Amino acid sequence: MCGIVGYIGREQAAPILLEGLARLEYRGYDSAGLAVLDGEKGLQVVKAKGRLRELAGRTEGGALVPGAVGVGHTRWATHGAPNDVNSHPQVSQSGRIAVVHNGIIENYARLKAFLEEEGVSFASETDTEVAAQLIGYYYRGDLLQAVGQALNRIEGAYALGIVCADEPDKLVAVRKDSPLILGRGAGFQMLASDVTAMIRYTRDVCYLDDGETAVLTPEGVQIYNAFGRPVEKETVHVDWEISAAEKGGYEHFMFKEIMEQPKAIRDTVSPRIREGRVVLDELELTREDLENLDRLYIIACGSSYHVGMAAKYILEKLLRIPVEVTLASEFRYCTPIVTQRTLALVVSQSGETIDTLAAMREARRLGARIFSIVNVVGSSIARESDGVLYTWAGPEIAVATTKAYSTQLAAVYLLAIRCAELLGRVDQEEYRAMVAGLEALPGQVEEILKDTEKIQYYASIYFNHDSMFFIGRNIDYAVGLEASLKLKEISYIHSEAYAAGELKHGTISLIEDGTLVVALAGWDPLFDKLMSNVREVKARGADVLGVTTRARASAMAQGVDSTISVPDVFPLYLPSVEVVPVQLFAYYVALMRGCDIDKPRNLAKSVTVE
Ligand code: M6R
Repeated sequence: MCGIVGYIGREQAAPILLEGLARLEYRGYDSAGLAVLDGEKGLQVVKAKGRLRELAGRTEGGALVPGAVGVGHTRWATHGAPNDVNSHPQVSQSGRIAVVHNGIIENYARLKAFLEEEGVSFASETDTEVAAQLIGYYYRGDLLQAVGQALNRIEGAYALGIVCADEPDKLVAVRKDSPLILGRGAGFQMLASDVTAMIRYTRDVCYLDDGETAVLTPEGVQIYNAFGRPVEKETVHVDWEISAAEKGGYEHFMFKEIMEQPKAIRDTVSPRIREGRVVLDELELTREDLENLDRLYIIACGSSYHVGMAAKYILEKLLRIPVEVTLASEFRYCTPIVTQRTLALVVSQSGETIDTLAAMREARRLGARIFSIVNVVGSSIARESDGVLYTWAGPEIAVATTKAYSTQLAAVYLLAIRCAELLGRVDQEEYRAMVAGLEALPGQVEEILKDTEKIQYYASIYFNHDSMFFIGRNIDYAVGLEASLKLKEISYIHSEAYAAGELKHGTISLIEDGTLVVALAGWDPLFDKLMSNVREVKARGADVLGVTTRARASAMAQGVDSTISVPDVFPLYLPSVEVVPVQLFAYYVALMRGCDIDKPRNLAKSVTVE
């Protein structure tokens, strides 16, 4: 939610800021702005409602805003409608301090009232203006000190980039509960919400921790902890290529990322299989740990939660350990039963989702040990976990997750195999079958991706529907949840996922002539039961698109209108192959409806507000 970027050096800042913002636009895209300091012109602020191209146009690609120090922002509105005034940067009353912000200032109303009583007048409806005004209120010629005083009064989550016309030789950055990364270069320094915004300029980054403040100058960075003491931070070298965050000839990031799934799964799995055995060096886990567990909580949001749903079926079946999957936004408020014997598995692509982070901290406070499955290296969730299984999906730019979801599933399979081995729940033959099945998975996903035309064809038949249903049982139901989310988030078609057996308890009343029901029927033990549910909806006029394994394709074809078959995989890995056609289906439907696929309305990739 919201992307911030900052630059201080010898080049013109504005074009660099615009380029950084272009890479952060996935975090929010209802308006954008930048503030640049120039010796002659002072502080110049340009903001524009709408996509970043509006801002780029207004500044002629940055050329109209000279200066070598600046901050930029791309917004996902929280306080106040997206318009030029509410866009960031927000400035102090003096017009000499500008602030960009990602997060939410929770006590902004109180602070605003205080400042108004002190004679400060506000231009916008944003919480961020309160930060800018408060810093301005305390400013007596020392920006760092004013920022410190302001932060003492600010509650909430924030990553801030701050410039001051009276101190044009520095850029100040602070963070609490929102991501902020510093980029180190020769003769320049940068800050950003995400590495992608600066990778063109530097691969040497360091991650600010909560409560830290950084002062950037062209020559270097000085970081202070929450008590104002200087701290040394490790610089990390990012080794992925910039092309990983570019479209590479594809029309949409989402399609590119769907196509990258075989590689992403392979990259996640291969390094962890050595001589036919699953090796998870990154997790300290013993048989005693597992035998001691009273329960495993899986905590996540959105698609990551759907991975958790699939994981529950897989882990409970294999390990016989109680698994509770909880939406992170609910976890803190549902009096969870956590003890010293509880393990919490936190799943997050970004590693920055605030609900997930907060739930994770709560689980830790209550005594749980924390493992996580995370894609973004160095993110908050990864850094605060006792053990992290990184997924190697590479940067995922499309708001709708695809390859990260698939690699999260792969990480779950790895964990399941390792735990089953530790607990002695599988014999050697089963173990070998599971490992071989996992190694075969990337190739099987590849097979599906070679033949997308049929799915495109089905999309062309159904894209005009107003409403669709996804039904399944067991892990097919977990895939249905993800399929439904994928469709609704990018095509804006109303859709619901139902455990197939549950339909007759109410929802079947919505089925009428021509309603599309996508029946996921890969889970073999329940195939016949699922087909009974298919007959129930067909009897009420539904069109049914079936998704099943090749082994069951002809049986399914007899009961449905159209069938998509996927390779026969090791049964517990079904979600990995079933999800691909439904991702493609959602993609083509959205394409045919003319939707903005990579940047669906009202959404942002990284949800850093509660
Ligand atoms: O980064 P996270 O995995 O923590 O994000 C959680 C959800 O916001 C995310 O999975 C969201 O549901 C997807 N973008 C949907 O495609």
